[in-house]
Amino acid sequence: MNFWQKLPKPFFALAPMDGVTDTVFRQIVASVGKPDVFFTEFVPVDALFSKGKERALRTLKFNEAERPIIAQIWGIDPEKFNKAAALIAKLGFDGIDINMGCPDKSVVKKGAGAALIKNPKLAKEIIEATIKGANGLPVSVKTRLGFDISLLKMPIAALTIHLRTTAELSKVPAHWDELKKIRKNLKSKTLIIGNGDIKTLEEAKNKCKKYKIDGAMIGRGIFENVGFFASRTFSPQEKINLLITHLVLFKKTYKDKKHFALMKKFVKCYVNNFDGATQAREKLMKTKTLDELIKETRNLII
Ligand SMILES: Cc1cc2nc3c(=O)[nH]c(=O)nc-3n(C[C@H](O)[C@H](O)[C@H](O)COP(=O)(O)O)c2cc1C
Repeated sequence: MNFWQKLPKPFFALAPMDGVTDTVFRQIVASVGKPDVFFTEFVPVDALFSKGKERALRTLKFNEAERPIIAQIWGIDPEKFNKAAALIAKLGFDGIDINMGCPDKSVVKKGAGAALIKNPKLAKEIIEATIKGANGLPVSVKTRLGFDISLLKMPIAALTIHLRTTAELSKVPAHWDELKKIRKNLKSKTLIIGNGDIKTLEEAKNKCKKYKIDGAMIGRGIFENVGFFASRTFSPQEKINLLITHLVLFKKTYKDKKHFALMKKFVKCYVNNFDGATQAREKLMKTKTLDELIKETRNLII
C-alpha cells in the first residue's frame, strides 16, 4: 500500500510552484498548517544528469517534516525519466510526479510539459519508463484540461487536473464543471485531484464534495495565507515573525547559493493587511542584501 492510499478523503496538496515551493517555504508551511501532500518545484530530467546537476539536486532537497513529499520532474526523453525515477527513489521521496501541464514557452517548445497533452504516445512511454525506474514508488501525473482520457488506463496513482487549457494559462477562471464530464467517463482507480483558483480550505472541501474528487491542490492561495491548510490567520506581529524565520532558514539552507532577491517575492505573503503594510513592504523591497532584508524585517517588529 503506498502513501496515496493512506491519505484522508478528501486530501489537500500544496501545488508545485517553481521559485516558490522549495524546501524552505515547505518547512514554513508545514510548521503553521501542513497539507496532506507536498510537491517539489519541477526539475528537468535533462539537468539531473548534466554538468549543472548541482542546481537540480538542490531543488530536490527536503526535510523529514515535509513528508509525504513528491518530486516533480519534466522532460521528453523516456530513458532520462527512467534514470531520474531511480535517482528520486534513492533520495527517499514518497512519490514521483510527471509534469504534463506546464504551458511555459521554453518548456512547450521542447515538446515537454503541456505539449505532452498533444502527444499521448510519448506521454505513455514516459509514464511507463518512469514506473519502471521508480522501484515501486507511486507515479502520478499533473496535467491540464484537454489531456487524453486514455492516460487513466495507465497504472498512475493520482492525476492532478489544472482545470484550464494550455492556451488559457492562468488568465481565465478555472473550469471546475469540466470535472463532471471527466468523472462520467472514468472507471479508474487513479485518484483525481482538482486544481485551480481555490482560495480557502472551506472552498477546497466544498469542491471535493461537489465534484466527487479525492483531493484538491492549492497553488496561489498559499500566498494569501501561509496558514491556509489549517485555516489559520495570524496577527501582523506573527506574520513578521514568520517572515524572519523564513529568511533565516533561507540563509542557513542555501548560504550564498541562491540569490536573495528570490526572497522578495515572499514579502507580500507576510507583510499585508495591516496599517503601514504598504510602507513596510516598500522599505523591504529596497534592501540590497539578505542580511539587510533580515535586519529591516526585524526593525518592523511593532
Ligand atoms: C509561480 C508559479 C510557479 C509554478 N510552477 C509550477 C511547477 O513547477 N510545476 C507545476 O506542475 N505547476 C506549476 N505551477 C502551476 C501550479 O502548480 C498550479 O497548477 C496553478 O497555479 C493553478 O493553481 P492555483 O489557481 O491554485 O494557483 C506554477 C504556478 C505558479 C503561480
